[in-house]
Amino acid sequence: MATMVPSRLPPRSCQTLLIFLLLVCCLLSPGSQRQEFLLRVQPQNPVLPAGGSLVVNCSTECPDPKLITLETSLLKEPVGNGPGWAAFQLSNVTSDSRVLCAGFCNGSQMISSSNIIVYRFPDQVELAPLPPWQPVGKNLTLRCQVAGGAPRSQLTVVLLRGEEELSRQQAAGEPAEVEVEVTATVLAGRSDHGASFSCHTQLDLQPQGLGLFENTSAPRQLRTFALPRTLPHLVAPQSLEVGTPSQVTCILDGLFPSSEAQVQLALGDQMLNPAVTRNSDRLTARATVTAQADQEGPREIVCNVTLGGETRESRKNLTVFSFLGPILNLSESSAPEGSIVTVTCMAGAREHVLLDGVAAAAPGQPAQLQLNATEMDDQRSFFCSAILEVDGEILNRNTSVQLRVLYGPKIYRADCPEHLKWKDKTHQVLQCQARGNPAPQVLCSKEGSTLKAPVGIPFFVNLKYNGTYHCQAASSRGTYGLVVVMDIQGRNLPSVTIFMGVSATVALVTVIGVLIYFYGVKRSGIYKVKQETSLPLTSMQPIETVAEEPSAAG
Ligand SMILES: *[C@@H]1O[C@H](CO)[C@@H](O)[C@H](O)[C@H]1NC(C)=O
Ligand SMILES: *[C@@H]1O[C@H](CO)[C@@H](O)[C@H](O)[C@H]1NC(C)=O
Ligand SMILES: *[C@@H]1O[C@H](CO)[C@@H](O)[C@H](O)[C@H]1NC(C)=O
Ligand SMILES: *[C@@H]1O[C@H](CO)[C@@H](O)[C@H](O)[C@H]1NC(C)=O
Ligand SMILES: *[C@@H]1O[C@H](CO)[C@@H](O)[C@H](O)[C@H]1NC(C)=O
Ligand SMILES: *[C@@H]1O[C@H](CO)[C@@H](O)[C@H](O)[C@H]1NC(C)=O
Ligand SMILES: *[C@@H]1O[C@H](CO)[C@@H](O)[C@H](O)[C@H]1NC(C)=O
Ligand SMILES: *[C@@H]1O[C@H](CO)[C@@H](O)[C@H](O)[C@H]1NC(C)=O
Ligand SMILES: *[C@@H]1O[C@H](CO)[C@@H](O)[C@H](O)[C@H]1NC(C)=O
Ligand SMILES: *[C@@H]1O[C@H](CO)[C@@H](O)[C@H](O)[C@H]1NC(C)=O
Ligand SMILES: *[C@@H]1O[C@H](CO)[C@@H](O)[C@H](O)[C@H]1NC(C)=O
Repeated sequence: MATMVPSRLPPRSCQTLLIFLLLVCCLLSPGSQRQEFLLRVQPQNPVLPAGGSLVVNCSTECPDPKLITLETSLLKEPVGNGPGWAAFQLSNVTSDSRVLCAGFCNGSQMISSSNIIVYRFPDQVELAPLPPWQPVGKNLTLRCQVAGGAPRSQLTVVLLRGEEELSRQQAAGEPAEVEVEVTATVLAGRSDHGASFSCHTQLDLQPQGLGLFENTSAPRQLRTFALPRTLPHLVAPQSLEVGTPSQVTCILDGLFPSSEAQVQLALGDQMLNPAVTRNSDRLTARATVTAQADQEGPREIVCNVTLGGETRESRKNLTVFSFLGPILNLSESSAPEGSIVTVTCMAGAREHVLLDGVAAAAPGQPAQLQLNATEMDDQRSFFCSAILEVDGEILNRNTSVQLRVLYGPKIYRADCPEHLKWKDKTHQVLQCQARGNPAPQVLCSKEGSTLKAPVGIPFFVNLKYNGTYHCQAASSRGTYGLVVVMDIQGRNLPSVTIFMGVSATVALVTVIGVLIYFYGVKRSGIYKVKQETSLPLTSMQPIETVAEEPSAAG
């Protein structure tokens, strides 16, 4: 037989087939005898696991059979024989094959066959890795790879989402060594986020009475996401002052799952640390940005939201600026009258200053005013504006300063007339306040007396105030004096005068009499008039100096 075999040896199964065909040819050749006894092959069409072994029994009713043999490409070993039978053990059965029992009965050949079916579980059932993120609304192709598994005609591949069957297909392709790939397409939805996908194989050997054998791949979890085409809504100021905190907000709607979205906010290369809130589909990032001095100039605020490996980014230009000043300064905050005071207003290098209407020559230059300080300039306010243009926007800041001029003291005649004619027993005000900085104190004392007239406050006037007064204003800057004559006129002048004249005469006589008496009696006695020391200078504060209560007489 070997000579008939071509040099290129076919595989074993083909070899078996060749033998079988040759035998059939012989049988069917014309003139051959009709077979009367049958040869049985047991078991018929067995199914066994790959690599297994089985005993094949060739038996016949033929009373005197000869040369009962088993034709197979498999490893065989005779395990016994008896009258009309011979048994063989086949081992290491790894693939389907056909075995033939052959023998002779009364000179004629008997032949019978059986198909051995080998089954094997898949070596590998694997669901191909899913994309790390699957966009919602896009088709996802699930791929199940099955290696091994036989017989393929009884092997089904099922793709599952959770428990739900997505596809069921027969694993096509023989031989079993060929890896098969079964695919299914699903439209990814939000509900698929977190869903578990798996692949099952079912080897159905129930027709052979062996049952249904299942193999399952490791499950894989899908993450789906939705990121809108729209860009984040970025709210940032147009300009940002160095050192001044400002709010930046970045919002993006329509995110799924927003909990997985990452957001970044940056001013130039300065990363901001936003507070992020996620409200169903909306992500909001809020950050406080404070620009540093070295960031001055045009800058960019960037907000990007990353989800599912995709990013949406918004940018906004802003200008970082610094605004210094205005600084308004006086050469002397308290200047003596007649001295030259310089008022200077300065600001940052890009700012224009305007000092009381006087503009600086150029940005960054100071504006100056000089004045010869006069009384009129005391408490004068100087006003300075610093103006900065940032990105077409005019910003201004103001400041003011007050000058104090040291002058005086001085009492003006206009306020304080030289002659005052007042009626007796009336209330009057001596308007002889002094001007000056620091505030002077004024004292009007009666010539030849210790009496002082209160200044600037009402007082009760009576005859004793009649006379000449020396009013003196005093401050740390010196003194100033004025003379005021108070002419106090008594009421009902004629009768009073007569009465007064009489009284005076009586009094004079009495006094002279008394004096003579005393002079005569107590020569040595000297009466001293208690001399009051001069009063301290009074301030202009009101004082309770109503010397005498007005009497009801009149
Ligand atoms: C083979 O078959 C014959 C006839 O059925 C039987 O007598 C014999 O015991 C069988 N041999 C084996 C090993 O099963
Ligand atoms: C079984 O057969 C395969 C080839 O079909 C061979 O590689 C293997 O060595 C055999 N095993 C045994 C135990 O004979
Ligand atoms: C055997 O065959 C011959 C003819 O070829 C026949 O005469 C004879 O009866 C056969 N014997 C049996 C037992 O069938
Ligand atoms: C397939 O399932 C069978 C039993 O059902 C098991 O023996 C075999 O190891 C499984 N194969 C794989 C690759 O899991
Ligand atoms: C998804 O695939 C189905 C068929 O598998 C097709 O009808 C549908 O148009 C696809 N949808 C998209 C969005 O690609
Ligand atoms: C998002 O913005 C930050 C800051 O500008 C940047 O560092 C990062 O690379 C950006 N991310 C992406 C994915 O573009
Ligand atoms: C920001 O400024 C740059 C140049 O300074 C310009 O090219 C860009 O278009 C600006 N971006 C926006 C959003 O205005
Ligand atoms: C006013 O400004 C000048 C120039 O900067 C400075 O030298 C001076 O000390 C300032 N004076 C006051 C009172 O701040
Ligand atoms: C300021 O003005 C007064 C009076 O007008 C004058 O006497 C004085 O010399 C001036 N002072 C200076 C420094 O010019
Ligand atoms: C500063 O003064 C200018 C002119 O008086 C005024 O228009 C402006 O509003 C002021 N600015 C501020 C910040 O008060
Ligand atoms: C008040 O004093 C003046 C002189 O200072 C004097 O002429 C006048 O008579 C006096 N009047 C009275 C009522 O004493």
